Amino acid sequence: MTSKQRLVIAIDGPAAAGKGTLARRIADHYDLAFLDTGALYRAVGLAMLRSGLDPDDAEAAERMARNLDLKLLEDPELRTLKAGEAASKVARHAGVRAALLDFQRDFARNAPNGAVLDGRDIGTVVLPDADVKLFVTARAEVRAERRYRELKEQGKDVSFEEVLAQVKERDARDAARATAPMKPAPDAHLLDTSEMDICAAFRAAREIIDAHMAGRTGERG
Ligand code: DC
Repeated sequence: MTSKQRLVIAIDGPAAAGKGTLARRIADHYDLAFLDTGALYRAVGLAMLRSGLDPDDAEAAERMARNLDLKLLEDPELRTLKAGEAASKVARHAGVRAALLDFQRDFARNAPNGAVLDGRDIGTVVLPDADVKLFVTARAEVRAERRYRELKEQGKDVSFEEVLAQVKERDARDAARATAPMKPAPDAHLLDTSEMDICAAFRAAREIIDAHMAGRTGERG
């Protein structure tokens, strides 16, 4: 009777808005499975680069996505700027997106307590029926600063200007593509983290999720 209800949470937003860290915290807190869907696109992008293929080649990228080696999801090179750029390119191909769609939906469906998926089109395309949708953003300069610090900590030799230019270029490509462009679902809660640290963002997200769960209990009672 008191069985816990499943909870499916969609988190979307641009690169380096803090949605990955936030999504992991939410998954831990509510005991949900977590899928970083950007890693799937990065894995396809990286596989293309390693095979000497052009990420703009739609047919080759779709073939790669259909035969994706999931071991790549653990590859340290997945986090590099190069892999991110290749990911953003392969993510424009409708065939690649279709190939990755079932994997993402099955993941959410099969997680016993429910799941948190983070990406660009989770609330709009992958899981339009998600219980809670968050669209996490921050100003481009703030996001570039965060990414720049991360890369510096990893010992990478990059300039802030270079990172800012890449953040803006990736935003433009992700938002302008014809298939599943990055945009908030009409029923998404917007969370601008420009002036928030991760603790404040987590608190704000929890308020939204807890309010949803309280409403759901109310409906049943
Ligand atoms: O979140 P990320 O930086 O790891 O994502 C890498 C690229 O993958 C991003 O530029 C756009 C693409 N992506 C997507 O198109 N749809 C998703 N659900 C997740 C990522």
